[in-house]
Amino acid sequence: MRKIGILTGGGDAPGLNAVLRAVVLCASNEVRLDIVGIRDGFGGFAEGDEGVLPLTRESVRGLLWRGGSILGCNNRYRGDPAFFVERMKELGLEGLIIVGGEGSLTVAAQMAALGAPVVGVPKTIDNDVEGTDQTFGFDTAVSLVADMCIRLIDTAESHHRVMILEVMGRNAGHIALHGALGGSADIALIPEIPYRPEHVAQVIADRAARSRTYTLIVMAEGAAREGGGKVLDRYRTKLAGREILGGAAEVLAHELRALLDHEVRSLSLAHLQRGGAPTAFDRVLASRMGVLAARAIGSNRTNVFTAYRNSMVQLAPLSDAAGKVRRVDAGGRFLSAARALGISFGD
Ligand code: F6P
Repeated sequence: MRKIGILTGGGDAPGLNAVLRAVVLCASNEVRLDIVGIRDGFGGFAEGDEGVLPLTRESVRGLLWRGGSILGCNNRYRGDPAFFVERMKELGLEGLIIVGGEGSLTVAAQMAALGAPVVGVPKTIDNDVEGTDQTFGFDTAVSLVADMCIRLIDTAESHHRVMILEVMGRNAGHIALHGALGGSADIALIPEIPYRPEHVAQVIADRAARSRTYTLIVMAEGAAREGGGKVLDRYRTKLAGREILGGAAEVLAHELRALLDHEVRSLSLAHLQRGGAPTAFDRVLASRMGVLAARAIGSNRTNVFTAYRNSMVQLAPLSDAAGKVRRVDAGGRFLSAARALGISFGD
């Protein structure tokens, strides 16, 4: 049987384990492939035999609803695509399924350009992979954000407060936009639309004039004020040696306190958004993508990734996703619906 590797690159997202399970089950039931996992994203390639884990029907039992990745994830490791291709040969891998976001899919395309038989599966809670309408993990993250909004409204309304909820999304505001839509937020601040603190304050004042004594703001971590930059968590950035965002909501809270006579509180959902059991939608999407990836590699269709387009899971060239970020479309239907519902973007 042909031996195929699989790895989960970048940060974790609910549904990664469901993909592993789907690939292994499809490989065993239908396409007859031997599947081995590479540990810790691309990091496992540098760890000799320790970096590899055989995956069997037994090892993927009960994985459909388990968050995280049993293989481990790694968004710190940066390696050379030529080295990964070399390691594939040394490990006897006749194909590789790379489950990852934009960064990992870019590496996948580079490996494919070097002749490696590679299939990509897009993942990220941020939903910012180009070429696919949705990634698994996004629905789970948005469901959590929307639920937390409803809780915050209870307190915001009772205490007549402005509450700012910071959510993930460094380059794209899909989580903030959909979270605001599903969580009945009044203002959504996203990286694609620079906000003006004075406009945000005006929306709050206008609401107060209509006896709405509270305001809920959902803010992407990558949102920035007009003329300003993204807010970095300086301490963690220094420790990690790479840019880590954090604190945008508290910066805005500070700006609003100077403009309004209103109690303003901020909080961040941070990594609570990444863990937990995937929603049924994400389990189904991840499973469909895993099956398609196994079938693709089984029939030697490589240099492709599993894209979700118009409710169908289909193969698309890796070049559609590599090196690109799918941002919120300023003229798109979700933003337009949000504006029609009265959600302000602080612009
Ligand atoms: O998965 C993408 C993402 O959630 C970004 O929105 C966020 O900035 C980043 O991961 C955080 O990653 P880490 O856990 O490495 O700080």
